[in-house]
Amino acid sequence: MTADDGELRRDPRDLAIDVRGLTRRFGALLAVDDLALQVPRGAIYGFLGPNGSGKTTTIRMVCGLLRPDAGEGAVLGFDVLKQSAEIKARVGYMTQRFSLYEELSIRENLEFIARVYELDDLQARVDRALSDLGLEARQRQIAGALSGGWKQRLALACCMIHDPVLLLLDEPTAGVDPGARRDFWDRIRRFSANGVTTLVSTHYMDEAVQCDSIAYIAYGKKLLDARTADIPAMVGLHAWRVGGHDLTRAADLLERQPGVEFVARFGANIHVCGRDAAALARAVQDVAGILPLQIEKIDAGFEEIFIHMTAGRDRVTERIS
Ligand SMILES: Nc1ncnc2c1ncn2[C@@H]1O[C@H](COP(=O)(O)OP(=O)(O)OP(=O)(O)O)[C@@H](O)[C@H]1O
Ligand SMILES: [Mg+2]
Repeated sequence: MTADDGELRRDPRDLAIDVRGLTRRFGALLAVDDLALQVPRGAIYGFLGPNGSGKTTTIRMVCGLLRPDAGEGAVLGFDVLKQSAEIKARVGYMTQRFSLYEELSIRENLEFIARVYELDDLQARVDRALSDLGLEARQRQIAGALSGGWKQRLALACCMIHDPVLLLLDEPTAGVDPGARRDFWDRIRRFSANGVTTLVSTHYMDEAVQCDSIAYIAYGKKLLDARTADIPAMVGLHAWRVGGHDLTRAADLLERQPGVEFVARFGANIHVCGRDAAALARAVQDVAGILPLQIEKIDAGFEEIFIHMTAGRDRVTERIS
């Protein structure tokens, strides 16, 4: 489903990102295939998809760092093909493997970036960035000695130093502990409340559910793009939690039952999923009649939904596009 389906067309001025047909090849590989993205101003937009699905490539095209082979559109009202300097000046891009100047202090890193952007009132901006991100007390600390969570906080401060109105965050919290990830998201929400738009790629489902909308891509193709709250009903996936001693055998049996589309391990249990609620229930109950299992109907979470989408790409595309 795209923004055009069933919805009134938005005024392009309300869109921070409005691109279509974005396509990029690397040799024979089609990394991004005819991708459209419409992100409203002020939104927090999640960008999800398996490894190698084209998220980073898309983000680099959106911020004018990588030229698409085809496609067009506007970012912050500027032409994505012709006005990359204007776009870059207004975008904060946190790269997937962000690099800091490890031998410089936190403050010196920020000062350095502020100089690169040729910003006025440099010291005041650096002070504000330090205070916004709670880094004042640590400002003299050498960046290379920071833990992962603090490095990530500094990287966010560096990409905010020029007051961008659009944040492109490429897996900003990878490898960061749950507490630091929560802090990070509190900050993103605060920026959003002040009108900043965020496009954020993540593999964490607890982060995905915090986004206003989610675009999901696999193999360079967008498979789903909708408001987060609408996705479960759109995909219509049902799930059962199954526990017991011989879950490997249970999974083998379940996978062969009609109505079971996939079985996936979740912690100490397995989740059994399918879109035909009645057939799925029958399958689970039949197998529970053969093996001693604890079974419980549950709501399908985003993790199940995205496993299902990647596994059944063609089927799902047909259903929801
Ligand atoms: N500069 C490049 N040269 C050649 N191939 C590339 C280049 N950049 C990306 N690719 C390929 O394009 C595809 C999409 O890569 P991309 O980095 O956009 O995926 P991703 O969705 O960001 O993945 P991940 O979740 O692992 O970060 C991959 O197959 C990747 O190997
Ligand atoms: Mg990536």
